Order: sequence, then C-alpha cells, then structure tokens
Amino acid sequence: MKTIIEPFKIKMVEPIQLTTMEQRDTLIRNAHYNPFLLSAEDVIIDLLTDSGTSAMSANAWGAMMRGDESYAGARSWYRFRDTVKDIFGFEQIMPTHQGRAAERILFSVMVNPDSIVPNNTHFDTTRANIEYAGGAALDIPCAEADDLDSDFPFKGNIDLDALKKLVAKEGPEHIPLIMVTVTNNSGGGQPVSMANIRSISRIAKDAGIPFYIDACRFAENAHFIKRREPGYENTPTIDIAREMFSYADGCTMSAKKDAFANIGGFLCTNDAGLAQQERNLLILTEGFPTYGGLAGRDLDAIAVGLREILDEDYLDYRLTSTRYVVQHLRSAGVPVVAPAGGHAVYLDARRFLPHIEPLQYPGQSLSVELYREAGIRGVEIGSVMAGADPRTGEERPARLELVRLAIPRRVYTQSHMDYVLEGINLVWQRRDGIRGMRIEKAPKFLRHFTAEFEWI
Ligand code: F0G
Repeated sequence: MKTIIEPFKIKMVEPIQLTTMEQRDTLIRNAHYNPFLLSAEDVIIDLLTDSGTSAMSANAWGAMMRGDESYAGARSWYRFRDTVKDIFGFEQIMPTHQGRAAERILFSVMVNPDSIVPNNTHFDTTRANIEYAGGAALDIPCAEADDLDSDFPFKGNIDLDALKKLVAKEGPEHIPLIMVTVTNNSGGGQPVSMANIRSISRIAKDAGIPFYIDACRFAENAHFIKRREPGYENTPTIDIAREMFSYADGCTMSAKKDAFANIGGFLCTNDAGLAQQERNLLILTEGFPTYGGLAGRDLDAIAVGLREILDEDYLDYRLTSTRYVVQHLRSAGVPVVAPAGGHAVYLDARRFLPHIEPLQYPGQSLSVELYREAGIRGVEIGSVMAGADPRTGEERPARLELVRLAIPRRVYTQSHMDYVLEGINLVWQRRDGIRGMRIEKAPKFLRHFTAEFEWI
C-alpha cells in the first residue's frame, strides 16, 4: 500500500466550534491582532503550537491512573527516570514542570554576564533565559539554512567554521556551554545531522566546553537521520536517538513535544557537581528532585510517551503528513520553507508579502489573515518574536520572517490539513491587498506572547 495512514484510531473527540469570517473579524480585533490573545474556542484549526497539545494514547491515560503521588521516591519517578536513562543515557536526571524551567536552572548555574552561548538557533525561551542570566545568546546556523527553497537535508546544522572561530576567539572562559537544538524549531523545524552533532561534540571536547542538546523534538530529528543520512537506513530510530545523546554532556527537554505529554520536562547532565547545584535550585522553585513540579501521573505519562514517540510507524506518518502540506503549498507556488520539517509548516512571510517591511511585521499580518480567512491560528516567528535588543532597546529585523503552523501530534486528520491548505490558498490569492502592522504595546521580554498590534 502506498498510502501512509494515521496509525491510530479515534476513541474520544473534542468538538470544533465553527465561526464566520465576520465573527472572526471582531474576535481578532478584540484580541489586538495577536493570535495568542484569542480564546481557543474561537479557533477552528489550532496550529499555534505542537507543545502540550498532543493527543495521549489509551496506554498513557491508563498509566496516569497508576501515578504514585508520594512526595519523595514515588514509583512514578523510578519509571520516569529509568525510561529517560534508557533513551537519553545521562547520569543525572531532574524532572521540571516544562522545558523552560530546565533552561532557567541550567543557565542560572552556568551563565554569567560574560557568557556567550552558541546554538544553531536558540528558541525564544532559551534566548530569554540566557539573556535574563546576563549572557549573550548567539545563533550560528549553517549557510544552507539561508536558502529556504533548497532541499538540503540538514538545514538545522550548526555552522562548524563559525563555531570553531568563536571557540578559538572566546575560549571556555566565555563559552560556558555549546548548544544545538534538535530539530531547529526557530530555523524552520529542520533536522541536525549525526555528522554535525559529532563534529560539535569534538570541537566542544577539544576546548573543554560542555555540549548540551535542546532535545524537544529528538525523535523527529532521529527519524530524519534514518531517512536522510547515509549509513543509518537500517538503524532503529531509538538507537539513532541514543547515539545523538552519547555525544553530549547534557540536555534540556520539554516533554510537551516529543513525549506526547501535556506538561513536563527535564534537565540532564553527566556532571554530578553541577547537578548538585541544579538540584538546589530545583527544590527552590520546582519541587523535590524526584517530582520537580510534576504530579506522579505526569511522570508516568511522560515515561509512556517517550516510548511511543519512537514507534517508527508513528514517525513515518508524522513526517509524511507534514511533507504532504508542504508539497501541496509548493506546487501552488506559496513560499514555504523547504524541505518539510517535522513538527510544523513554515510560511515564508517575507516572500508571501514582499511589499511589507520587516519592521512592519509581515509574519504578524499573515498570521492575522489566516485567522480571519479560515480560523487557523499560527504564530509569527520573525521580527516580533526576535524582540528588541534587551541591552540597547533597539529593534532588530529577524533573519527570517516566518509564520509557523505547528501540527499537534495525533490530533488533526488529513481532511483538516486539506482545509488548512484551502485557507492558505485563499489568503495567497488576495495577498497584494494585505497591509503591515505596528506594535501598540509590548513587554520587554518575550513580547510576542502579549504584544498588541494595529494595522498600518
Ligand atoms: N526549546 C525549544 C526548541 C522549544 O521549541 C521550546 C518550546 C522550548 C525549548 C521550551 O519548552 O515550552 O516546555 O517551556 N516551544 C514551544 C513552541 C512553546 O511552541 O515551539 P517549554
């Protein structure tokens, strides 16, 4: 059979409330043209994020009933710890309530005002947590990532020459850690090759700098390696994941992505001394080290989800369904980041709306129009999200102006995706009449969540 079907059937449903364009005009105006400020019930297809929005399995729900809510040393903790250890391989494992809590703890301990932390592309919470600790977050994606049209298979790679130069210039005194994000969410959901991970690890080891993986979408990245990197065709995806982590000294993880969980995360390291300092902070704001701000049932859901996410039939379906949307958009001429990533489709707002200046936020305009047209909620990943420089307050146009349509795991069917394609095509037909936006009000950090906009 050629058709790759959803490898699950539906046991429980949530109704979607349908709205008219006229109703949505009012709703988005009242939300100050920021899709984050809409009520979820006013959204038809919610592609705001793939984070915490996945459908859990009957098995995971069953495991939640077995959750052990003991304060310390709960059975759920051991099931969680053993699963994380088996896949990720690190010595020290600390549960946190989500990924950014792991980031905050890690950077509070490792980063100071002289620090520079390189990454392929920092996610916004990662960047903000580094900057909050006084450090500088530096993006050094590979050159191939700039060509949004090419089919280069690993556009998530780090620019190894830039990394070597940075390490030679700044040394371990100024670089407390090197990070790589798999897959590269802010750079189009593109994967990082095993060869790149291995080289980063070598550069880091030679310089005596710890190497961390932002592991949010590790299973998708591992499966891309299986599909695209010569030599891995016949390796089980779980072993590819294990190899990826074997090159690293630690990781941060949001279980809201590739663990199918609605909440949760963890921080790992092989450094016992560092882990001691991190646990002190963990106790201060998250909880005792065997639950880290999570209920026992959440730890069990994560333990089941981490196994399910590595199911290769699931991963085949996942990568194929994202590619389906990208292929249809490309053949209609809609500018989109290629090749297809794992968790999301990224519209290239700069080319979709070339008449709008970067600092008039073409991505914001496009995300508002997708909502008005079809009730689709996506998110701008461009100059709004990049934010102003926290030191100078100066606005910086982002390297890319994208609108991300993130696909929750196991939630929408192919006909939902056909509806999304139709909505995007309708906006594409009338793109010349779409205006730019200005910011009316915005906070200093992570402004895209709450900023208010007006049409220019
Ligand atoms: N790192 C990456 C690459 C992420 O995509 C996210 C979250 C985080 C860290 C932080 O994890 O949300 O559990 O605190 N990304 C979500 C998104 C919010 O929509 O892409 P968190």
